[in-house]
Amino acid sequence: MEFIDICAVDELPPGKSRAVRVAGKDIALFNVAGTVHAIANACLHQGSALADGIFSGRTVACRAHGWRYDVTTGALAVSPELGVACYPVEVADGRVAVAVNGK
Ligand code: FES
Repeated sequence: MEFIDICAVDELPPGKSRAVRVAGKDIALFNVAGTVHAIANACLHQGSALADGIFSGRTVACRAHGWRYDVTTGALAVSPELGVACYPVEVADGRVAVAVNGK
């Protein structure tokens, strides 16, 4: 599994999110109480950017129509068997890296 360097962890404080493009994939990063999580940055409904959603705790609500996701797993709140892709994150030496291989 290859981790790709994204940003300094200081650029993504707890409670914040941001969109990044990694190896051709649009990814939404979320910092949940100091732990960074990465999921696909496209709502299952109509593709709105989840990084721009309303983020609280470990949940993000899509700004377009309110579908809610667990940012730690990508699972859709109302139907957890559905969801968006979730990617492994590694934080080392103050840097955030994401692995997108095979997804
Ligand atoms: S596009 Fe996300 S809820 Fe409609």
